[in-house]
Amino acid sequence: MIVSKTVRAASIALTLLTAALVGCDGGDSSAGGGGATTQPGAGAGKKLTVGFAQVGAESAWRTANTDSIKSEAEKRGVDLRFSDAQGKQENQIAAVRGFIAQRVDAILLAPIVETGFEPVLKEAKAAKIPVILSDRRVATSDDSLYVTFIGSDFIEEGRRAANFLVKKTGGKAVIAELQGTTGSAPANDRKKGFEEVIAKHPDMKIVLSQTGDFRRDGGKKVMEAFLKSADGAKINAVYAHNDDMAIGAIQAIEEAGRKPGSDVVIVSIDGVRGAFEAMAAGKLNCTVECNPLIGPQVFDAIEKVVAGETLPKRIQVEEGVFTQEQAAAELPNRKY
Ligand code: AHR
Repeated sequence: MIVSKTVRAASIALTLLTAALVGCDGGDSSAGGGGATTQPGAGAGKKLTVGFAQVGAESAWRTANTDSIKSEAEKRGVDLRFSDAQGKQENQIAAVRGFIAQRVDAILLAPIVETGFEPVLKEAKAAKIPVILSDRRVATSDDSLYVTFIGSDFIEEGRRAANFLVKKTGGKAVIAELQGTTGSAPANDRKKGFEEVIAKHPDMKIVLSQTGDFRRDGGKKVMEAFLKSADGAKINAVYAHNDDMAIGAIQAIEEAGRKPGSDVVIVSIDGVRGAFEAMAAGKLNCTVECNPLIGPQVFDAIEKVVAGETLPKRIQVEEGVFTQEQAAAELPNRKY
């Protein structure tokens, strides 16, 4: 009896501590700590409370995505509790647990990797708190664990990048691949879509492939190592799973005395401003758009869920492909 009381007290203390931590990450003003004021299924007229478990701030894309969600929350008067997991899954799981303890109306999760979220998603379901997946999906056999997934088609993005490279190189390329975060949906899917297309072209081969973790410094470091490797001199194409890594690779290629954009054809994904600048300077050949500005779609979905509406399991984001030739004209229109 004494033991169970102690365990219970410790568990309550832990829950309160987690809730407090989620509310105080890095001094974010939208993080709103403290206890919950709104119960799940809050009706019209009540201020919505939403917990957002974000991946981190690894890329320009991610920063734009965070800004879009925060500004839309502010516009709609939503109490957004924001947690930056700094690229660590354990931080993200702790954040979701904290949001459950705070009894938020809905949880927005951008899962860092595909696997390992089932237990905490089950806890949210048991607490009757709807979870919306934003940007990245999770791998689960039980899709009742989340309401909907709002994001891009990463496989299609990989295909688009490969199709560009086929056209640009005439189907002949020695490719170095810079992968995104290992185990993440965009890294898995972008690789899959790209490989599906180049498999039809026997003279296109990925000879080197490694993760740069979606970071600019990661892309630079990996590219430096690629260029120094036995296959380095043969590389005439780079496929980067995001623009930040491509920009890092451009620096490495220039430092190695080669010309990015001509000696080495480069295609990447995201469509951030830096990529358009690199294209306008002739150093990047193509960027496949992945739109991070999904705040309005996300909160439309959350408001519907809380109002009791049923949503499709998948809400897709529309996007395009941009080449060097379009860069200068498109640059002033870029919003991220
Ligand atoms: O999940 C989307 C990917 O994550 C973006 O392409 C990348 O830049 C980000 O870090």
